[in-house]
Amino acid sequence: MAERPAGGPQRLRLFFALWPQGAVAARLQALVRSAHAAWGGRPMGPDILHLTLAFLGDTAPERLPALQDIGARLARLPGFVLRLDKLACWRHNHIAWVGAETVPAPLQALVDALRSELGAAGFPLETRPFAAHVTLLRDARCGAPAPPAEPFDWPVTEVVLVRSVLERSGARYQAIGRWPLA
Ligand code: 2AM
Repeated sequence: MAERPAGGPQRLRLFFALWPQGAVAARLQALVRSAHAAWGGRPMGPDILHLTLAFLGDTAPERLPALQDIGARLARLPGFVLRLDKLACWRHNHIAWVGAETVPAPLQALVDALRSELGAAGFPLETRPFAAHVTLLRDARCGAPAPPAEPFDWPVTEVVLVRSVLERSGARYQAIGRWPLA
């Protein structure tokens, strides 16, 4: 019998994220428009904008209960306010993004706890340091200076486990778990 190919259709592409709601989502959409005016590229739609906490990649569906347990344990950590005060464009990967000049301690604590739980449960860990960013544009032409943008606050109240479904038109994201922070 043929073995399942690694990363085949039975596996789920997953990541933990912060998902903006309401006024924060609206501010991010406005930033997509001004970033696009400056840098062109492919704007991220309103149902795509998020901040990745930990990217898991292709995951066997049998591992979902372990991820649900990890999400539930994260809910003991406190909510916090994330100030988004940096709009920039990375030339190496043509991504325009908004993020935090300084990662607030509770966000770093959340990412550290998540990575440590994932590692303990045997999930492969990202080796890159955490970069708190929301991708606004892909394929951006980063040469122009950043447009002006007022800093704003994102009150973070929950962690979301997201499934990314790759389609011909791009990725579609589906929340498959949500845990409110304390
Ligand atoms: P990006 O927006 O900077 O590309 C879903 O793909 C989310 O996971 C995106 O926010 C993406 O970040 C992030 N991500 C982190 N590591 C990734 C990886 N190795 N491959 C794809 N996406 C990754």
